[in-house]
Amino acid sequence: MTSSNSPVGIFDSGIGGLSVLRHIRDLMPAEDLMYVSDRAHLPYGNKASSFILDRSEYIVNFLIQQNVKAIVIACNTATAIAVAHLRDKFSLPIIGMEPGVKPATVKSRNGLIGVLATEGTLVSGKFQNLVEQHANGADIFYSPCHGWVEAIENNGPSHAKTVDLVEQSLIPVLEKGVDTLVLGCTHYPFLKEIIENIAGSSVTIIDTGQAVANQLQRRLSDEALLSSNTQPGEERYWCSGPAENTRDLIAKIQANHSIVNQLPIPD
Ligand code: DGL
Repeated sequence: MTSSNSPVGIFDSGIGGLSVLRHIRDLMPAEDLMYVSDRAHLPYGNKASSFILDRSEYIVNFLIQQNVKAIVIACNTATAIAVAHLRDKFSLPIIGMEPGVKPATVKSRNGLIGVLATEGTLVSGKFQNLVEQHANGADIFYSPCHGWVEAIENNGPSHAKTVDLVEQSLIPVLEKGVDTLVLGCTHYPFLKEIIENIAGSSVTIIDTGQAVANQLQRRLSDEALLSSNTQPGEERYWCSGPAENTRDLIAKIQANHSIVNQLPIPD
């Protein structure tokens, strides 16, 4: 049986969701968190929808077996493709995420907005509806940011090859004159400094990690599921593929990482 002191499950194709986890940790220090990185199957951004649906369902089932009280899909691509299906199938609270088009239209002064997201997110019906309903007359320019996720996972965010790739995708969007850039993939906040250096200080960068943490807190509160623990919460990590790679990556990104376990078969 789950209770208010059960953990919150969080998942992504890789370590991108840690950019959301850090906001959840800051906002709700007492919550126990279980994080799944589906590293053996990334990137999600260029995979068939049926594959993303299967992986998302498998991971949610795994997290439910670990007794989580709620799930955060810390992945724009998996949310775009699978959130409706997962909410139909499972009764626990499931928090998804979407590229911050709505806040971008509020922030932009010139009505020119760049959205950086995976191909899977950009072509999804969910994203196209979001733009239709909320672009509010703004001109939106897109980049599918080819190779960014693999570069972050394989080389690290500050590697010269990663910086080259970022420049290649970003410059054509900046040449449109955008004054606001939406980070529509949870891996991209790890590139924020590099993006800022290329884009310059006049461009506003929107990341929805904090909004997702706020939404999780509201939802847990509404359902009387906020932890009553007085000790700092724990974090546990699981991954598909060899655990060492994920352990090394987590160590680079957050100092207080701990143990990473391998997902049970099938991974
Ligand atoms: N970090 C994920 C997202 O927010 C998925 C990236 C990928 O695996 O392509 O879309």
